[in-house]
Amino acid sequence: MERFSAVDVIRAKRDGARLTDDQIDWVIDAYTRGVVADEQMSALAMAVFLNGMDTDETARWTAAMVDSGETLTLHSDRPTVDKHSTGGVGDKITLPLAPLVAACGAAVPQLSGRGLGHTGGTLDKLEAIPGWRARLTTEEILAQLADVGAVVCAATEGLAPADRKLYALRDVTATVESIPLIASSIMSKKIAEGADALVLDVKCGSGAFMKTATDARALAEALVGIGVARGLRISALITDMSVPLGRAVGNAVEVAESVDVLRGGGPADVVELTVALAREMLDLAGLSDVDPAAVLASGAAYDVWARMIRAQGGDPEAALPEPKHVHIVEAPADGVVTRLDAYAVGVAAWRLGAGRARKEDQVQAAAGILCHAKPGESVRAGDPLLELRTDTPAAVPSALAALTGAYEIGDSAPAATSLVLATVRG
Ligand code: URA
Repeated sequence: MERFSAVDVIRAKRDGARLTDDQIDWVIDAYTRGVVADEQMSALAMAVFLNGMDTDETARWTAAMVDSGETLTLHSDRPTVDKHSTGGVGDKITLPLAPLVAACGAAVPQLSGRGLGHTGGTLDKLEAIPGWRARLTTEEILAQLADVGAVVCAATEGLAPADRKLYALRDVTATVESIPLIASSIMSKKIAEGADALVLDVKCGSGAFMKTATDARALAEALVGIGVARGLRISALITDMSVPLGRAVGNAVEVAESVDVLRGGGPADVVELTVALAREMLDLAGLSDVDPAAVLASGAAYDVWARMIRAQGGDPEAALPEPKHVHIVEAPADGVVTRLDAYAVGVAAWRLGAGRARKEDQVQAAAGILCHAKPGESVRAGDPLLELRTDTPAAVPSALAALTGAYEIGDSAPAATSLVLATVRG
């Protein structure tokens, strides 16, 4: 005999009521067991989308999703600290960040995902490295954390199964863009992974889920609120995602750019964000006396990177895949680049083969875009602006269509803006 009726729970939220803890625990558990049907959960997700959930409801909803599966205990001798980005274009920051924070003395377990749509996935990027494998057992994760201090791998199937079911449903019922549903989805996986401390990178702008500063702040506060309710040390940086991060967007190209950063070079914005997130993670881990900029410059982070890649079967020195076809978009006039739209570049890279439209699609390791000129940089007519890379030349026209109106050349540089827009601390 079930404790509640799904119809009563849906009606309550439809009519704007607050769900009780018991209702939430039951509905998530019953959905995981298959007692609440997909069409009922779809109706409830839409009611939540329209009427929202308050902080306590969202925290309880998250806890119920955590309890739907297994939780890992990834403790190590060092303080553990994790990072999660809400997803952007050219967002390869996990690649230099995890080894950097490990080189500073923390343990970084980063259970990551694959890309869907215009935002790339960390695992897809790392799989461009010959031999590298994403799937590790819990024992392998723990051994690598103890030995190397950093591990970036696929999340195990048993973590937050209620979220996996619900996310698939939200994707096909226009209920993804709800702050309580996004926040509970992200946090249920992070809590199930067993991190003690977590820094969130909440992206804001055309290339992000949250297009406005108001929405990004609301999401950051919802995420931090759930973490605080759970006793996590947590903070969120709200960062700009209106322009692609760095010059590389894709898989192998983002690995190459991350290696440049780990070797002490790379684009200034990627270095700035890597160091800013590292500082925040080290603060939460109780290691605020370590200077991540100095550790990056010393080469110690590259050494951890090489060990991390080798521990997962990859060859950090191997040549990365090259595309079969390259198409150059030239600057149409002399001047300064005044705009380069992150969303358009993300969609174009995805159409070139860097991303997938359905979960089962394969990505091309070599596909992507190199941004030869970014906002504030001068160009002459005919200079390369964007380099489109793909193994399937037939994809170029649709990538070019996505880039229509995506960049502008003007007379003077746009005002410099800051990458980190705000910080929300728990
Ligand atoms: N990422 C998630 O894991 N869940 C969401 O709902 C949105 C982004």
